[in-house]
Formats: sequence, structure tokens, C-alpha cells
Amino acid sequence: MKLLFLIVFSCLFPQSQGNPFSNDNDGHQRTFEDIIEKEIAGYSEVAKKIINLAVYGKAQNRSYERLTLFVDTIGPRLSGSRNLELAIQYMYKALRKDGLENVHLEPVKIPHWERGKESALMVEPYNHSIAMLGLGGSIATPPEGITAEVLVVSSFDELHKKAQEAHGKIIVYNQRYINYGETVLYRSRGAVEAAKVGAKASLIKSIAPFSINSPHTGIQSYTSDVPKIPTACISVEDAEMMARMSSRGTKIIVTLKMGAKTYPQADSFNTVAEIVGSKYPEQVVLVSGHLDSWDVGQGAMDDGGGAFISWEALSLIKDLGLRPKRTLRLVLWTAEEQGGVGAEQYYQLHKVNISNFDVVMESDEGTFMPTGLAFKGSDKARNVIKEVMKLLKPINITNVFENGGGTDINYWIQDGIPGASLRDDITKYFWFHHSQGDTMTVQDPTEMNLCAAVWAVVSYVIADMEEKVPV
Ligand SMILES: *[C@@H]1O[C@H](CO)[C@@H](O)[C@H](O)[C@H]1NC(C)=O
Ligand SMILES: *[C@@H]1O[C@H](CO)[C@@H](O)[C@H](O)[C@H]1NC(C)=O
Ligand SMILES: *[C@@H]1O[C@H](CO)[C@@H](O)[C@H](O)[C@H]1NC(C)=O
Ligand SMILES: *[C@@H]1O[C@H](CO)[C@@H](O)[C@H](O)[C@H]1NC(C)=O
Ligand SMILES: [Zn+2]
Repeated sequence: MKLLFLIVFSCLFPQSQGNPFSNDNDGHQRTFEDIIEKEIAGYSEVAKKIINLAVYGKAQNRSYERLTLFVDTIGPRLSGSRNLELAIQYMYKALRKDGLENVHLEPVKIPHWERGKESALMVEPYNHSIAMLGLGGSIATPPEGITAEVLVVSSFDELHKKAQEAHGKIIVYNQRYINYGETVLYRSRGAVEAAKVGAKASLIKSIAPFSINSPHTGIQSYTSDVPKIPTACISVEDAEMMARMSSRGTKIIVTLKMGAKTYPQADSFNTVAEIVGSKYPEQVVLVSGHLDSWDVGQGAMDDGGGAFISWEALSLIKDLGLRPKRTLRLVLWTAEEQGGVGAEQYYQLHKVNISNFDVVMESDEGTFMPTGLAFKGSDKARNVIKEVMKLLKPINITNVFENGGGTDINYWIQDGIPGASLRDDITKYFWFHHSQGDTMTVQDPTEMNLCAAVWAVVSYVIADMEEKVPV
């Protein structure tokens, strides 16, 4: 085990640097970890400079102010929309004006779906307007809508047990919220499961742990083996109300009207900017967030925050006159919400150079109070990241968590490239996620400063270390 370790790591060090495992002055053998610890500790002054600039200095609140102007100018940025096009043009100009290098757009084909006019009205047992949002990719109803009796179920299991009753009905899923990852299956597969038992439409309780009558949209997908039926999300309150009514045997009738349309694929772009590496310019540390959003709210949190702290990371490094050995590459993905569409095409195009990718980073789970970094990679790589995170001691954000990743960087992580994502206090994230509530009001400048400091220190130090993070 130990021997293998030495063989593997001696390959990482160029001959010219001598044998890194030579004995130190006391005759102790120096391990890879010793060397890394010493090298990384050497960055403590530069880390403090980055932190000071981001949190206390001239760049204080900059990512927040930039994001405010951006979302108030452009609004939400749905895949295929004019707003998203304008957002990309806006960022292209802003990144150039900021003095970043190699600012360019990489073409991508993306889905174009629009919700159109839509409504859901409960007409029995009494008239009640249901707060709803069509789910991404849903088909429309006929113009007069679909009026049908509701069958409320609390799970796919219950739906399958009640399959005989489901024919011709509108299925309302009143699933329990466990966590986003598990519960979101009701959004992505709800329509297909309902169609399998002959339902005319499906409505899901929004995938959210908290609600003030807010529907939360998101992508869903059809399969080719069952008919496509219209599908939407409704508020937690309305789903629970209908569940109570139905448990008392009350007959519920709903009229659902949806004018959704799917258009041919649209032209879009991933937006790229760099600080070119001084010594290994072909090697890349990728820092990213997505520029598209849903068509409700302002997309300030998902993922304006992640996109703008990623930009901020490069701005901070540039402003300090730093140029890491490797290239720091900012990518603002397009059409993440449609299933990582921009990121997938980026991966397909650039994977020929995969051996030059060092670490891929994405922030897409909020930019609230940061708690650390989530990392995915080998144990050796994790040890490096743990040392890097010690540099954030001045702001006490040193944790390294398991399971780093994100929709847009998972393509690389699956191929063995180490991946990191920002961890923050996610409590509020799913309150606002994909809803009208995702506005600038939920963002906080002080929290964004701290997120940007973590993002900049980590990306800079990794990009500047003599060796790539081991895979
Ligand atoms: C940054 O935002 C905080 C919180 O709103 C505020 O107290 C502070 O004055 C702002 N700093 C600058 C430089 O605008
Ligand atoms: C309920 O709504 C329908 C459709 O908008 C309307 O025709 C009907 O008059 C309403 N019923 C009551 C009792 O308000
Ligand atoms: C691959 O890397 C080389 C060297 O940096 C570069 O010239 C080339 O454009 C890259 N190709 C792609 C598809 O990224
Ligand atoms: C540092 O953060 C930890 C949680 O990560 C917390 O328990 C501790 O109180 C914090 N210390 C300071 C000085 O803020
Ligand atoms: Zn997102």
C-alpha cells in the first residue's frame, strides 16, 4: 500500500525538482502530504489578501451589486427565451469590460418551451382558483381545458394500487417532502406514471419544504411508451386541502387549462472568460454557475448567485494582479434547468482535453452563508482540498463535505475529474427554488462576499499549485 503510494506519486514530480521523498534534515522521510501541507500553507498570505478584498475591502458587496443590476435589467432567463439571449450578450460585454481574458461564446442548441396562458380552477366542491405553474416541457390542454374528477394519491405505490380508479381522472400527487433529491421524482416522473394508468392530467404538490401558496416549477420528462399528458405543480396548501377533502370522500372536480408550447431548438451559448495560466496555460480549473433560470421570479438565487460569485472569483484574482500557473476558466452554462444541456455539449466538445482538466467547480445550491466545500475525488485529492480549505480559517469556513458535484460538472466528475461545489446554509433554498419567490430579496451581500472569498481562494490556490490535484 505504502509502496504503491510512493510509486504513484513519484511520477507526479518532474525529475528537475529532485526527489521529493528525500529525507529532510532530521532524516525523516517526507511524504506527499507533508509536501502538500507545506506548499499550501505558503498561500496563507495570498488567501488573506483575497479574503480581505472580498469581505472587507473595495470589492465588498460587488457580486451582489452586479447581480442586482443584472436581474433587474434582464429578469428571468428561460431556456430559448429572448431574455436569456439578452443575458448572454449582457454578460459577454460585462466580462470584457471587467478586463478578463478570452471572453467568448460557445454555441449550443437548447430546448425552447413556453408555458403560455394557464390556470387551474377547482369547481367542485366549491370554486377555488388553484395556484399553479406548468412543468417544463409539458404539453398543452385543449383550449377548453380538461375538466375531470381528481384522484389524490400520496405516492406512486398508492397510484398503482388505485390504478382501476385512475382512468380519465386528474391525478393529484400529495407526496411527503423528504428531501429535494428523493421527492423531485414526483415532478420528473409524475406525468408518465399517471399516463400509464390512463389519467388525463397530473398535478404535483410542489417540491418544497415550506410554502406561502407558492407553486414551484421545474423540468419533467415524457417517455415514448405512454401518451403525453399535461402536467403542472400546485401549492403545498392546495394539494393538502384536496387530500383532506378526498379522505372524507368529497368529490373534487378541477378544470385545468394550459397553453404550453414546445418550439424548435434555439441557438444559445455557454459564456466563457479566463485568466490564462502563466506556466501551464493549457491546464484548466473550471469555475461555474448557470445563467439560465426558470421563467418566474428573477432567477437571482438559482443560479444568479452561483454565476456571479464565479465571475467575482476571477475579478478578485485579477484585481490583486494574480496570475495562477494554470488557466482559471469561468463558464456560465446555458440551459441547465432543461437538464444540463449547455454543459453536456461543452463536455462533448472539450473532453478530448480531459487530461488537462484539474478540478471542476460549480455553485448551484445557493449563495447563502457558506459552510464549506463539498468535494468528490480520491482520498488523496480530498487531503489536498482539506489543506486548501484551512486557508479559509480567517473566515472560519474550513469544512470539506462529501458528495461534491452539480448537474453541469457531473459529466467530468463521472470521468474521474475531481469536482467541488459550494456548500451553504441551504435551509431557505428550497423555499424559493423555481418559484416567483426567487428574487433579489432573498440574497444577502455579506453572505455573497463570503461565498466569493471561498470560491476565489479555492480556485486560485488549486490553479497555482505546482501539481494538479491527484485523481
Ligand atoms: C455592504 O452591504 C452591507 C449589508 O447591507 C452594508 O452594511 C455595507 O455598508 C455595504 N458595503 C458597501 C461598501 O456598500
Ligand atoms: C364557478 O366558476 C364557474 C366558471 O368560472 C362559473 O361559471 C360559476 O358561476 C361559478 N360558481 C359559483 C357558485 O360562483
Ligand atoms: C484542447 O487543448 C488545446 C491545447 O490547449 C487547444 O489548443 C484546443 O483548442 C483544445 N480543444 C478543445 C476542443 O477544447
Ligand atoms: C466556526 O464555525 C463552526 C461551524 O462550522 C462554529 O461551530 C464555530 O462557532 C465558528 N467559530 C467562530 C469563531 O465563528
Ligand atoms: Zn440551478
